Amino acid sequence: MISLILTLGIFFMDHTVFAQGADLPLVPRPESIKRGEGVFRFNANTELLFTDAKLGSEAGLFATLIEQLYGFRPVSKTAAASRPNSIYLSLDGNASLGNEGYRLTVSTGEVVIQARAAAGIFYGLQTLYQLMPAGKVISAEVPVVEIEDVPRFTWRGMHLDVCRHFFTKQEVFRYLDHLARYKMNRFHWHLTEDQGWRIEIKKYPRLQVVSAWRNGTRIGHYSESPERYDTIRYGGYYSQDDVREVVAYAAQRHIEVIPEIEMPGHALAALAAYPELSCTGGPFETGRTWGVFQDVFCTREETFSFLQDVLTEVCALFPGKYIHIGGDECPKDRWKSCPRCQARMKELGLADEHALQSWFVQRMEKFVATKGKRIIGWDEILEGGLAPDATVMSWRGYAGGMDAARQGHDVIMAPTAYCYLDYYQSNNPGEPLSIGGYLPIDMVYRFEPVPDALSASEGKYILGTQGNLWTEYIPNFRQVEYMALPRMIALAEVAWSPKAGKDFADFSRRLVSHMKLLDLLKVNYSKAICDVRLESLPLERSQLAVSLSSSYPSGQIRYSMDGKDPDLRSPLYERPIPIGQSAGVKAAMFDGGRRIGSVASQVYRLNRATASKVQLANPPAEEYANGGAFRLVDGVTGPIPWFGSDWLGFSGTDLDATIDLGVAQEIRRVAVDFLEDRGSWIWYPISVEVSVSQDGRNFTPVGSWTKETAGTVDRWCTIKFPPTAAQYVRIVARNAGVIPDGNAGAGRPAWLFADEIQAE
Ligand code: ACM
Ligand code: ZN
Repeated sequence: MISLILTLGIFFMDHTVFAQGADLPLVPRPESIKRGEGVFRFNANTELLFTDAKLGSEAGLFATLIEQLYGFRPVSKTAAASRPNSIYLSLDGNASLGNEGYRLTVSTGEVVIQARAAAGIFYGLQTLYQLMPAGKVISAEVPVVEIEDVPRFTWRGMHLDVCRHFFTKQEVFRYLDHLARYKMNRFHWHLTEDQGWRIEIKKYPRLQVVSAWRNGTRIGHYSESPERYDTIRYGGYYSQDDVREVVAYAAQRHIEVIPEIEMPGHALAALAAYPELSCTGGPFETGRTWGVFQDVFCTREETFSFLQDVLTEVCALFPGKYIHIGGDECPKDRWKSCPRCQARMKELGLADEHALQSWFVQRMEKFVATKGKRIIGWDEILEGGLAPDATVMSWRGYAGGMDAARQGHDVIMAPTAYCYLDYYQSNNPGEPLSIGGYLPIDMVYRFEPVPDALSASEGKYILGTQGNLWTEYIPNFRQVEYMALPRMIALAEVAWSPKAGKDFADFSRRLVSHMKLLDLLKVNYSKAICDVRLESLPLERSQLAVSLSSSYPSGQIRYSMDGKDPDLRSPLYERPIPIGQSAGVKAAMFDGGRRIGSVASQVYRLNRATASKVQLANPPAEEYANGGAFRLVDGVTGPIPWFGSDWLGFSGTDLDATIDLGVAQEIRRVAVDFLEDRGSWIWYPISVEVSVSQDGRNFTPVGSWTKETAGTVDRWCTIKFPPTAAQYVRIVARNAGVIPDGNAGAGRPAWLFADEIQAE
């Protein structure tokens, strides 16, 4: 995608360079497309015919989509055979189509969709819908085409956290519409949290009266201090009738709803209503801030009575196979000091609190099995031993999912680095406040749910993937759409389309054509795909070049260096721009004689270390490598809240960097920019040592810094020393190590994040 932009504009005009059918705005990409000559003319007289009365629902939903699009509603009815000017739905599909595949044949006289099951017909109709021109017409021209399509994965999911912020039933319907349009088939409904309990449980009315509400909400980012709060009472919940409506609405669209009832952690809202289910007895209030809370369900017997009652009502509401029991981020501090939990461990002969959590989850699994259902848990349920029949949702990277697959358990791969749609999708300073991280759409698209390291038989346990949308920083549904779309479409393609033929440039062309439909549906999707990315490249010692690129498949990039926003008179970007001294660059994408997307800008601060060669003793983690060691001397410092794109992240290991300044020179100051965001497991280093050398072999310490003497830390760590001649500078920053109890990610390796080293 990078830097092909100028030529793509030309390719875009010439259909011969596309793969067969790649110019059709179809997302996700079908397995096989054969284009023909001519068009089918869809008009108010076109009938929707189906052989089997049970396809009436699929036909009716399609008729409604057409009515929204064109203002006329096609007649839909059963028929024994197709007729001219009809869309004919038939369950006589080939066995190879499976339960979800379809064959769509558009000819000039009629359209036929064949499948084995109603789901396949539904997906065939979604494809047909995407082939319809977006915008009011009397007669819609649909290109003659033959499409055969079968999904790659059976689990194509989206999650929505309705606890941190609450979304109405109608908003959930609209979310489900988005899933259905892209052939996603699982809705993971995150219903209980520290900050709110959102499902009516008749036996426990205080869940509605107390747990569904909080007396205020954290303002700004979780890493900010001092903490700020509003005092607005906030909350809401879905009645059991609401839940039944959502489940039915989803089922019509071939989406299974998976409710998540969190245990043993993320339970503060429930404890606020029923403090007797905690280790300490409380009192508690429903959470007003984010993060991980120490108070969790106690392993006392009352907790199990409560959770079993809750799950009895939940299982009756959700006809699907799965119940998600959470299991993530459960601090063990309270259990360690609770006489009942300790007695429980002793009685069961359990080695530690992880084994206690494992026992907890296994007990719940047995109960859920009595209702004919299976549990899913976040990958923490691996710790202390997996429940025998559990499916693992791998979020803290691939490792948990790989481990589970090797143990013969089903897995849903949803690693944060590719599937967390609450992360920033653009480096643009105008982005709404987000939790952090950086996940642009091309990175979502690159995601491969089945790691190469798994054997073919282990890989079969990967059921698929899903996007997770946590809503601490997503206060309204417009922003849900903004964060979910279009990244969800990229993930839908990962989940549906064949692995072979994956091509981001091709995807982005289809997506941009498809966006006309999103505009028509008034979807508040992000236009980050139109953004320009600025990337510095080493030119020569102390000199940079800035390359500009975009995922947008046509148009021109223009830039300015005078501080003003670029306009149509600004220079056209043709090749990397040399930067000889500290400077700012602004850039934007232009198409059709106007700016599209927003203005990207970056300041470059040059110093003696800029563009030098850097050797790292330990590599950064793959997902936070960001192009490697050069990132540390690229003249750019990452913003706060952090986006990830400019940071190197080391998981549990030290930053150990040796910079070759090229020639010996006198230096007196080294500064390193570190990040601390403990909510995201990112800790400031505990010490930083600087040493210098003339030959690259013998190093002399010149200065150091330790956290003990420094008190609070805020990004730049500056170490000054008497002027010293050196060609090599070595910086060793010690990782904080294992995250202490009582913090997010306790017991896991801390991240060390650095983004820039300066020498003067
Ligand atoms: C999670 O993101 N805590 C599963
Ligand atoms: Zn306890």
